[in-house]
Amino acid sequence: MSRTPTLRTVGLTKSYGSVEALVNVSIELFSGEVVALVGDNGAGKSTLVKCVSGSIFPSSGEIFLEGKKVEFRNPGDARSAGVETVYQQLALVDTFDIPGNIYLGRELKKRGLRGLLGVLDRKAMRAAALKSIEDFGARFPDLYAAVETMSGGQRQVVAMTRGAHWGKNLLLLDEPTAALGVRESKSVLEIIEKFRNQGDKSILIISHNMDHVWQVCDRILVLRRGHLVADLRKSDTTKSDVVAYITGAHEA
Ligand SMILES: Nc1ncnc2c1ncn2[C@@H]1O[C@H](COP(=O)(O)OP(=O)(O)OP(=O)(O)O)[C@@H](O)[C@H]1O
Ligand SMILES: [Mg+2]
Repeated sequence: MSRTPTLRTVGLTKSYGSVEALVNVSIELFSGEVVALVGDNGAGKSTLVKCVSGSIFPSSGEIFLEGKKVEFRNPGDARSAGVETVYQQLALVDTFDIPGNIYLGRELKKRGLRGLLGVLDRKAMRAAALKSIEDFGARFPDLYAAVETMSGGQRQVVAMTRGAHWGKNLLLLDEPTAALGVRESKSVLEIIEKFRNQGDKSILIISHNMDHVWQVCDRILVLRRGHLVADLRKSDTTKSDVVAYITGAHEA
């Protein structure tokens, strides 16, 4: 029996002038899977995530979600299709609090005076945000402080919670634990675990941290100079094997 992958890319290619950031990359992600995307700096990892999340358009190749071909024009298109992304550069609004950031651009409205739809429903947004924070086990010193008062690690956990809150089928994470301390890394890895356990979901996580990869992933994809050079089940490989693919030692 063949299952339909949550995400499938076919021959995805992205060039910037003479730079081939991504070359003919075909991957599949199935529901319930956490897949790591690894590779050296400049290998094309963020480029792949940006193509799938609609923030850049591939030069060629196709993307399928649940078997259906998609052509995202912008990140909003991808979000509407249930694809959530936590980027390397977090997109948080500093002066907003956590619920404000979770609902950024997707605010809930209620009917105001004379029945006009248009007043922000802060109470409903706070309640739903709180529920997600609790469901995903994130901990913050003050939920209603502006995120600019938070540490880099705490802000990362806010962005992760937002992704998990909205992600209907696919969560793309670009180095969610880079620059995080032990506590915040643990929090991020727990959110990944809880998101996966919600059932019909897939996660693609970029990471340079092999320990984190080994903690949460089922499968590892290795990019090298824009090419997919390995697709390995964690149970069939070792960290040093993966590193050999990353550095190209396997090509020698
Ligand atoms: N907007 C751009 N214009 C020109 N070249 C780009 C652009 N974005 C990425 N590149 C190039 O594409 C290649 C892949 O970059 P990408 O950001 O995907 O790498 P990465 O694997 O995410 O690296 P890192 O681990 O450092 O984040 C690099 O050579 C990079 O310089
Ligand atoms: Mg990157």
